[in-house]
Amino acid sequence: MATRTSTGTNRTGMDMSPALAKELLQITREHTPPAGDESKLARMRQDFFASTQPIGTVPPPGTMKGMAKSALEAIKGHKPTVLIDKLGEQLAFERTGVRLYDAVLAKFDALGSWDGGPTRAQLEQNRDEELAHFEMVRQHMLRLGADPTAMTPSADVAAVIASGVLKTITDARTTLSQALQALLVAERADLEGWQALIQLAEELGHDEMADDFRAAEEAEERHGAWVRQWLGAGMLKDAKRELRKSPGKS
Ligand SMILES: [Fe+2]
Ligand SMILES: [Fe+2]
Repeated sequence: MATRTSTGTNRTGMDMSPALAKELLQITREHTPPAGDESKLARMRQDFFASTQPIGTVPPPGTMKGMAKSALEAIKGHKPTVLIDKLGEQLAFERTGVRLYDAVLAKFDALGSWDGGPTRAQLEQNRDEELAHFEMVRQHMLRLGADPTAMTPSADVAAVIASGVLKTITDARTTLSQALQALLVAERADLEGWQALIQLAEELGHDEMADDFRAAEEAEERHGAWVRQWLGAGMLKDAKRELRKSPGKS
């Protein structure tokens, strides 16, 4: 199995063809780009940014319970859409988290692990906790009378942000350690999401919610720490060229 640092047929650098590199540099001297700056591009962006619609909206409550809860929050001077938007985001994040771990598990089964790398049981544990978090957020949304099947604007944005992570992990050419590197990005963002939600729930007086979110935060801290440890051990193994070639199961 080729690791990420194998020497191979990489031809992207100029050193691979000194003669052609010289020619290339000659062309850049003969055809200098016209004078100018990026201000036109910036102006065009500003025009677009100022004139487009938002990426989405939070749906109005679709149930009597939701309408009543919403009215109650409004009396307290709260804007319930902010919490619902962020809950929708975390819900989407946890659901994606389950899928990310499933994809990492497939990579684990195909390529194996290394000493100090993940075991199948650990990956399964993290995946199951993401699923439990998803269900917990869903229950809180239902209690607020919100629709957990609706994609909120923040959920939409989070999905776009995480799309690079998903692409990296499901790419057939990436190694397990490269997939874990992407997973670490997701875990860090996941943790940030919980911390923002804890703050919001505390501020709005949703104590039970804040308690549940703190328990989730604790689990996410551990997820991130594990992934960091696995990556560190893998990198050292890679550097010492001791990566085991046969698939290892826990
Ligand atoms: Fe999570
Ligand atoms: Fe996590």
